[in-house]
Amino acid sequence: MEQTLLLIKPDAIERNLIGKVISRVEEAGLKILDMKMVLFTRKMTEHFYGEHKGKEFYNRLIEYMADKKVVALKLEGENAVKTLRDLVGATDPKKAEKNTIRADFGVGTPQNSVHASDSFKSAIREIKFFFGD
Ligand code: CMP
Repeated sequence: MEQTLLLIKPDAIERNLIGKVISRVEEAGLKILDMKMVLFTRKMTEHFYGEHKGKEFYNRLIEYMADKKVVALKLEGENAVKTLRDLVGATDPKKAEKNTIRADFGVGTPQNSVHASDSFKSAIREIKFFFGD
């Protein structure tokens, strides 16, 4: 069993897609261990996305996410990191595989509806960030 983190981003919350995203997660067999809606402050956003600092899209990403509500989910399942990444699809919704969350719900970058941990190591860090030890 493995754990991973899913964030439902402001563009999806704005368009009433929380339930649809969560249904897909449950239908894929992932268990929700914990879940909360959080105000993602600018400080939290900059910390969470620290690895992207200096990249061309960094400022757009921060402006899009900062001081808005997000829903964080702590998930568990077999190969949870890969299972969730496959369910979410590629970063750019236009390039995301058919029937993935981003292909079906995303509107662009950075407004791609969800974030999913990209590795086991990131999952540990990101779960700790939102849910503590
Ligand atoms: P996420 O999985 O949350 O990880 C980093 C985020 O940066 C990504 O989803 C997108 O929201 C955003 N992002 C990545 N690449 C770009 C880009 N080229 N332009 C704008 N935003 C991007």
